[in-house]
Amino acid sequence: MRLSTTTFFLFLVLATTHTTQAADIDIKKFGGAPNGDITQALVNAWKQACATTSASRILIPSGTYKMRGVDLKGPCKAPIEIKVDGTIQAPADPKQLNGAEQWVKIGYASHITISGQGIFDGQGANAWKQNDCNKNTKCERSAMNFGFYFLNHTIVRGITSKDSKNFHMNILSCNNFTLDGYKAIAPADSANTDGVHIGRSTNVKVINSKLATGDDCVSLGDANTHLVVQNVECGPGHGISVGSLGYYENEGPVVDFLVKNVTLKNTDNGVRIKSWPSTSIATTVTNMRFEDITMVNVANPIIIDQEYCPWNQCSKKAPSKVKISKVSFKNIKGTSSTKEGVVLICSKSIPCEGVELSEINLTFNGAPAIAVCSNVKPKIIGKAPACTAATNKVF
Ligand SMILES: *[C@@H]1O[C@H](CO)[C@@H](O)[C@H](O)[C@H]1NC(C)=O
Ligand SMILES: *[C@@H]1O[C@H](CO)[C@@H](O)[C@H](O)[C@H]1NC(C)=O
Ligand SMILES: *[C@@H]1O[C@H](CO)[C@@H](O)[C@H](O)[C@H]1NC(C)=O
Ligand SMILES: *[C@@H]1O[C@H](CO)[C@@H](O)[C@H](O)[C@H]1NC(C)=O
Repeated sequence: MRLSTTTFFLFLVLATTHTTQAADIDIKKFGGAPNGDITQALVNAWKQACATTSASRILIPSGTYKMRGVDLKGPCKAPIEIKVDGTIQAPADPKQLNGAEQWVKIGYASHITISGQGIFDGQGANAWKQNDCNKNTKCERSAMNFGFYFLNHTIVRGITSKDSKNFHMNILSCNNFTLDGYKAIAPADSANTDGVHIGRSTNVKVINSKLATGDDCVSLGDANTHLVVQNVECGPGHGISVGSLGYYENEGPVVDFLVKNVTLKNTDNGVRIKSWPSTSIATTVTNMRFEDITMVNVANPIIIDQEYCPWNQCSKKAPSKVKISKVSFKNIKGTSSTKEGVVLICSKSIPCEGVELSEINLTFNGAPAIAVCSNVKPKIIGKAPACTAATNKVF
């Protein structure tokens, strides 16, 4: 048979597509079936994928599954995608996770993708009831839904984290991590269910995502650089937070954070930077940009709080040693549920530097919200409230 040029070309295209396509590993192959426990099936599928020298894709098809804790580790020989379209349930009893910090852990690997329409259901209701961390600093912490640690070049796209027992997701020591189209869902009164916490990482993006939860929407720990939160909706919850910082020894600086085109609805805080007083931990926070943000019924829309001391766990006698500089708040509008729409309480020993308020239009009961400041002289650009002195009120 003589191949026409077109047929031959088509043949080439098909052959090329075929050779570059990731090999699929369905968890069915390892006995993972709907309504069953897929812990071992996923561990075995990961082992096979991790040892494969070309890209592979682990499939968890639609259906409801149960799963105990997993800790999937590299290094692996080639990129791995885990495509989850099913609903995976954690044990409802926190004790069944045997003290693991996270239910689904993935670490020490490169080029990992998690995709699909799947739901990771942490079944956290019992854990929230047992949570006494607001009174007991040595409280037992339940497992978070996800722990990503020491990963390079990671994409988490589309999946939902539901009712985590603790934070929904912890991203620790990762580089080039994109969280796209992610959803975190938990009731407004669920304790410590931060949507995503990021620590000691660089180049992390949270985009096109929706986080409705009981604690911070996005929270940043120390030693983070080059982070972006964009096209995101938060609420209910406690808003977007840098810190709290100044609590643990040897904290690294937080540098370059952009929050853009974000809506916060019915949250306790909007955008916040917080540090503890009365410790000697000296780190820095610099180059923070918060812009194009809409607040809907937010209690503290714009807040820097260097006297952060929840539940009187500290004394406020010595000022915070955390240095905050170059922070701009630009084009932030909407409604505050308190009169003080802007609260900037900086450290008495290390005042904030280079803070800018530009085009801030926040209203409380229809009237402009006020700004309350101490140890900071923000530059006002365009329309924004001028500072009034802070009283002794604790925010
Ligand atoms: C991630 O990147 C860092 C810095 O380049 C490197 O030291 C580390 O080994 C990488 N980790 C993996 C799992 O590839
Ligand atoms: C970041 O990771 C993505 C996903 O693996 C990859 O496509 C991209 O090239 C990486 N970017 C850099 C700068 O390494
Ligand atoms: C802002 O974010 C929303 C999602 O929250 C998105 O629908 C919209 O397109 C974004 N706007 C721009 C200008 O990117
Ligand atoms: C501020 O916001 C209010 C309420 O949304 C609006 O009526 C008003 O025109 C805005 N002012 C400016 C200067 O944008």
